[in-house]
Amino acid sequence: MNTIKPERTPGWLNLPSLGLPLRMLFTGYLLVTGVGLMMAGVQILLTHGMADGKWGISVNDIVYSYYGNRGGSRIESKLEGSMKDKAPVDVRASIVEWVHAGASEEQWDRSVKALFQQNCVKCHGNIPGLPDFSTYQGVLSVSTIDLGATVDSLARVSHIHLFGISFIFLFVGFIFSFAIGIPRAIKAAVIFIPFAFLIVDVLSWWITKWYPNFAIVTIVGGFGYTLAAAFMLLTSLYQMWVMPMMGKRPDIDAWHDD
Ligand code: HEC
Repeated sequence: MNTIKPERTPGWLNLPSLGLPLRMLFTGYLLVTGVGLMMAGVQILLTHGMADGKWGISVNDIVYSYYGNRGGSRIESKLEGSMKDKAPVDVRASIVEWVHAGASEEQWDRSVKALFQQNCVKCHGNIPGLPDFSTYQGVLSVSTIDLGATVDSLARVSHIHLFGISFIFLFVGFIFSFAIGIPRAIKAAVIFIPFAFLIVDVLSWWITKWYPNFAIVTIVGGFGYTLAAAFMLLTSLYQMWVMPMMGKRPDIDAWHDD
């Protein structure tokens, strides 16, 4: 029985023996994509990389970008500082917890207001010049924390990212699919991995928004698809330009794809 494997169809493209026009087309695209990836890296370093005030990308950067910096409110530092003796420890803990959760008005009405009434309002509400803690607005003025990315901005960035980057992987993977000498299973995996990591990456932003420990997954996902893309890009360029110069232009017989 003769089964024809599409990879062995005579005349099918392979990178080392592409004609010059197609090589120029693929090379132009890969070069621009490579520069684009580097620019993306610089941009990530400049925005997320500086989120914790230090150079370089770290888990804290990702946490600050998506989850926010929730320890930074004035009320929290005061409750650890000069207001420490104004309320018992469990009350202070409840207030901090409420602030970290986003200082909702609903919870304020339900329970938090009473805590301030009992412990704080005799001064903060009577002494002029101090913020008035008998109202929600007054407490909010010292409770603002950075809650990280908003759902709006996440949704916007997510869909741009998914549509845009999947196109890059489509073409980079398409070109790489004409590479030779790479076992079929590995080739298939390398082509698919960036798409999987892209989903993981974008999902991890959303999860990090609520569970900061997930930030590490964002970094792993980003590195994962960058590595896979870099591998495809470099292999393709090598096979299009270096291999023909070394006289390696395989005919169909040398076409071992699996
Ligand atoms: C006995 C009076 C008194 C009580 C009770 C009191 N505070 Fe204060 N609070 C002050 C004074 C005086 C200041 C200004 C001096 C300072 O910052 O330490 C202040 C400052 C603050 C500030 C900083 C305000 C700003 O504009 O920077 C915060 C936040 C605060 N208090 C929170 C609380 C909370 C929360 C409670 C209740 C758990 C509380 N305070 C109870 C007297 C009080």
